Amino acid sequence: MKIAVIGTGRVGLPLALAFVEAGVEVTGIEINEDIRNTVTIDKTMPFLEPGFEDVLKAGKLKMQESLEGLQDIDCFIVTVGTPLLHHIETDLSAITRVIIDLARRIVPGQTIIMRSTTAPQTTEYVKKVLEKNSELEVGKDIFLACCPERILEGKAREELFSLPQIVGTQDPLSAEKAQQLFDKLGTEVLHCDYITAELVKLFNNVSRYAYFALANVLSMIAIDYDAEPYEILKLTNHKYPRPITSKPGFTAGTCLRKDFGMLSEAYWSADILISSWRINETMPKFLVESAKRRWGDLEKRNIAVLGYAFKKDADDVRDNLTDKLLRYLHRECPSQIILHDHLVNEAEVIQLHDMKFSTDLDQTIESADLIVIATNHSLYTENREKLLDQVKNNQCRIVDLWDSLDTGKVFLDNTQL
Ligand SMILES: NC(=O)c1ccc[n+]([C@@H]2O[C@H](COP(=O)([O-])OP(=O)(O)OC[C@H]3O[C@@H](n4cnc5c(N)ncnc54)[C@H](O)[C@@H]3O)[C@@H](O)[C@H]2O)c1
Repeated sequence: MKIAVIGTGRVGLPLALAFVEAGVEVTGIEINEDIRNTVTIDKTMPFLEPGFEDVLKAGKLKMQESLEGLQDIDCFIVTVGTPLLHHIETDLSAITRVIIDLARRIVPGQTIIMRSTTAPQTTEYVKKVLEKNSELEVGKDIFLACCPERILEGKAREELFSLPQIVGTQDPLSAEKAQQLFDKLGTEVLHCDYITAELVKLFNNVSRYAYFALANVLSMIAIDYDAEPYEILKLTNHKYPRPITSKPGFTAGTCLRKDFGMLSEAYWSADILISSWRINETMPKFLVESAKRRWGDLEKRNIAVLGYAFKKDADDVRDNLTDKLLRYLHRECPSQIILHDHLVNEAEVIQLHDMKFSTDLDQTIESADLIVIATNHSLYTENREKLLDQVKNNQCRIVDLWDSLDTGKVFLDNTQL
């Protein structure tokens, strides 16, 4: 079997490498030259995603810029980005470009697998664009399936070979072609129609988004009453068979936030997803205002913000909430702000007047009198004693929404130690 993966970003590249590992002949189509060179010349991952080192070194993944010369491909897998526009509206431009290009080149017998996350009815739209621009019929001449990616960034290697595959098709031959493809990964295949596949993926993500919002609103209400969110969570869940399973924290990132938008774009009414969005998005402002209410003005403070990636132990900065936190802190005109993250690429960090960036934790916290842990990287938990010493010895205060330091306190000062 020969396949082409179109868009070898954080989803496409691990998927392409998993198929290489499974013995499939794979070509990655990628417009970004840096990614192509990193994969084929350096033979390394362009981002943090462990487990693919050996298969990369073997050099079997071919890469090219365009769809030129791929008439003998059995299956094209589309994994380009599907962001939201500024309003609650899905941006289909990358998908449309790829599908029109494919439609003009596709030959009978070839299959297209939609792997990107898409709003309801997008696969139906793709089918129409394909048929209009190729004059071939889906289900008869060519084949189409919606098989959304559900991996967790950082765990792709493990989950690609274990998660069941959702395969949405509307004709038996497309279902058969998609089944043959995913049989190569050895995972269970669950068949359904396009809409069901699209909704399964979106609800897998938005349920997490809404669970986090519940823990976040619990924190906000508790903090407003000067109660401790982590004590409430502990008592709520202690030997209770129906526990609250999520913890508070900055909840954003490239998938969770936008996927709620894909579900919300067709509905005018306020709903649980819009409410979750408001709760999760206001958390940075809420923390800044609550810190001021407790500890006074931030004007003369030396502030250290720890963590810039949108999630723990990742290097992905897209759609993080630290940006927002930094802007709110910046508006308070503190003496200085130092941002720390040891994993992200400095070139991707927001530029704010007077703000410094460091990858050295000791240097970041040495003169800090206010520390905000924005991302719960393991490094901060590993340096728990050092951070708590800063509170004990240097009158420093810490905002720790994630409870990374395991004190059970979101707002920590030396009166509590
Ligand atoms: N990142 C995740 O953890 C994750 C998980 C599940 C699903 N998804 C979904 O998967 C899709 C891709 O997400 P991602 O994080 O990999 O995005 P990404 O931006 O990292 O990757 C997309 C890649 O496609 C390339 N590209 C764009 N247009 C192209 C074209 N015409 N031809 C060739 N290459 C092209 C881009 O250069 C980029 O490298 C999105 O729909 C996303 O919602 C992401």
